[in-house]
Amino acid sequence: MIQHKALNIIKVFICTVFLLGIILPLFNLKANAEAQDPVWEKIKQRGELRVGLSADYAPYEFESSKNGKREYVGIDVELAKKIAKDNHLKLKIENMSFDSLLGALKTGKIDMIISGMTPTPERKKEVDFSDFYMKSGQSIIVKKTEIDKYKSLRDFDNKRIAAQKQTTQEQLAKTEIENADVHSLTRLPEAIMSLKSGKVDGAIIERPVAEAYLQQNPELGFAKVKFHEPDKDNSIAIPKNAPVLLAQVNKSVKDVKDQNLIPKYKDIAAQSMEEEGNFFTKYGSFFLTGIKNTILISIVGVVFGALFGAFFALMKLSSIKPLKWLASVYIEFIRGTPLLVQVFLVFFGTTAVLGWDISALICGMIAMVINCAAYIAEIIRAGINAVDKGQTEAARSLGLSYGQTMKTIILPQAIKNILPALGNEFVTVIKESSIVSVIGVSEIMFNAQVVQGASFDPFTPLLVAAILYFVLTFVLSRVMNFFEGRMKVSD
Ligand code: ARG
Repeated sequence: MIQHKALNIIKVFICTVFLLGIILPLFNLKANAEAQDPVWEKIKQRGELRVGLSADYAPYEFESSKNGKREYVGIDVELAKKIAKDNHLKLKIENMSFDSLLGALKTGKIDMIISGMTPTPERKKEVDFSDFYMKSGQSIIVKKTEIDKYKSLRDFDNKRIAAQKQTTQEQLAKTEIENADVHSLTRLPEAIMSLKSGKVDGAIIERPVAEAYLQQNPELGFAKVKFHEPDKDNSIAIPKNAPVLLAQVNKSVKDVKDQNLIPKYKDIAAQSMEEEGNFFTKYGSFFLTGIKNTILISIVGVVFGALFGAFFALMKLSSIKPLKWLASVYIEFIRGTPLLVQVFLVFFGTTAVLGWDISALICGMIAMVINCAAYIAEIIRAGINAVDKGQTEAARSLGLSYGQTMKTIILPQAIKNILPALGNEFVTVIKESSIVSVIGVSEIMFNAQVVQGASFDPFTPLLVAAILYFVLTFVLSRVMNFFEGRMKVSD
């Protein structure tokens, strides 16, 4: 009897717990949804929506300069503006190379990708996708003079095909064309340039984008061939496990389709594509920003690099073993790895590992300083070592301490060895700083690429960039020579 009662109590208890487990969450569903979507929480708290894109993709996204003012324009940008507005958020556009976007999304650098991206099974493993907002065809463009050579896809077998790196077009080149020699290029204008200069026989490009480029490059045309899978979706990528964000984005996408806004967005984009003015009135401001930032990054790199470098040099010269080792490990590691890798490590590492929320420009500067410090440490160490040992011995035997010897005898002489080498390092840094363009720092190279996308002219912007780098480094090395000459006189 007692046993029976006890059993009943247990049954009631289990049922209650079970029911509570089902009912309570229902009441709490809305609150829970927010709590279960930390991504959305974070965006709301910040009040700013960070949208990543690769602005080399007119009419989807590109940069234009209206009355000297630069802005991002295109279908995707209008869509981003709408999503931000629908959710009462400020919009921040982060422009980077297409192959960096997924990484940036996964490490939380950006909240979503709106960059003409097509959902693929591989990408779906990494991120979630919204409903599609557009469908677009795929095309191959070739030189107009060669159009007649290509009657079917088979005519492209064994040919050299350009496509943007890590895009579905690159996949198409590999899967639909037999034995193609695929040239994967980071930025789309590079694909156009390869085609124009005869490095490849054709380029696979999304139809609307190809149309935009063809308008500006009359010597190119569409090859009359069809792919097996002609149309692809364009969707918005968001981080996994962000149900609220996904719902909000889909709501805006549904609006766009219900109100048939895409044609309107296309019109806005088309207007921005045809601007008046010559190359320099249109794009001069891009290059000016570039020069400013290149100089800024280089100065920060060299000045702080010299400070930290001096530190590491002294550590390496010190007689305390652990300090010596630490400095050696640092210097060897930095000099033994590519700057490109270091830049990416800093860019993604600061958010993914350290949780810092810092801009690409600051990341670029940090990477440059870390890199310069190692090289300059070696310059300084060599400079100090080059001072004759006898000097130290003489100073010490006169009763000066180690510190005094360094300060008054050795360092002043070492500086004469160091300064010229430091000048060379400065010249190197100006050129090397072009690498930070990969994370979207707006220096000369980055702006040249932006202008490539905006002007549909792949070559001139590069030429301008080359000239600018040359002028900067040439002037700098003349100035250095002048000072070197003065120092020689003072000997
Ligand atoms: N739709 C293609 C893909 O998802 C290419 C997108 C390229 N976008 C760009 N902004 N460059 O792979």
